Amino acid sequence: MATPAVELSSVGKVYGYGSSGMIALSDVDLSIEPGRFVSLIGPSGCGKSTLLRIVAGLETADRGTVRVHDVSPDEACAAKLIGLVPQSPALLPWLSVLGNVTLPQKVNKDAGKRRERIGDLAERSGGRVQPDMMELLRRAGLEDAVDKLPAQLSGGMQQRTAIVRAFGLQPDVLLMDEPFSALDEFTRESLQDQLLDLWDELKTTVLFVTHSVSEAVRMSDAVVVMAPRPGRIVDVIDIELPRPRNQRLFAERRFHEYEDLIRDRLHSAWRSTDAA
Ligand SMILES: Nc1ncnc2c1ncn2[C@@H]1O[C@H](COP(=O)(O)OP(=O)(O)O)[C@@H](O)[C@H]1O
Ligand SMILES: [Mg+2]
Repeated sequence: MATPAVELSSVGKVYGYGSSGMIALSDVDLSIEPGRFVSLIGPSGCGKSTLLRIVAGLETADRGTVRVHDVSPDEACAAKLIGLVPQSPALLPWLSVLGNVTLPQKVNKDAGKRRERIGDLAERSGGRVQPDMMELLRRAGLEDAVDKLPAQLSGGMQQRTAIVRAFGLQPDVLLMDEPFSALDEFTRESLQDQLLDLWDELKTTVLFVTHSVSEAVRMSDAVVVMAPRPGRIVDVIDIELPRPRNQRLFAERRFHEYEDLIRDRLHSAWRSTDAA
């Protein structure tokens, strides 16, 4: 079997100390094969962002091991294997859309060279070419906005810019923390389409946090259901629906059966948490 793109074994994380400590993650095992689209879903406080931040190397686990393409998160970050799209787009306000999306490439011109220093990663990254950013912007519907500043854009356009920026680095693993949650439903569905198109083309591994059951079912190869107190994984559900998954999917019975199954798992996890 191929080396997993992301692998967590017995991962634990506690914030604070002693009796006031908060167990953000307890005994988390998760293995994601390269190229898969995997969503994390669960109520607020169940550790979704913590898990993502640990994979991104922004936090360290207190227990267990975390590997990204068989190196540590820090090494993976240094080799620019990881891209992160946070909940708010975090664009630089003084740069145009084009300036924002091309900045990481300028800053990381030598990322390819650094990748090669990480042993067996060299082979995979060797044939990598810089993507055509204008083409990615066009595909994201931003061709008329390339010279605009972030303040001149709607929230949806800002988030599309952030997604294009993340894809532009061609990360092997793209981490997205509720990227669409602040957007209206129409914008959200259109961005889901665009993300699926880009993912299909670039074959990136995606770990995607969402609050929305239907978004998780629509996007994912597998949905990881989490529960709080302590933050943990209660189930991993494979979504065996054909792709491409367009709007017609919403009319299909199997789509709604997956939604019901995930809601059911979320509720039973919630009940067992309350009882504890
Ligand atoms: N930096 C921090 N310091 C203390 N507690 C934190 C910190 N970050 C998260 N937590 C706590 O850890 C738990 C999990 O948080 P988080 O990962 O943000 O959950 P989610 O993203 O699922 O809402 C929550 O109870 C939260 O309050
Ligand atoms: Mg969060």
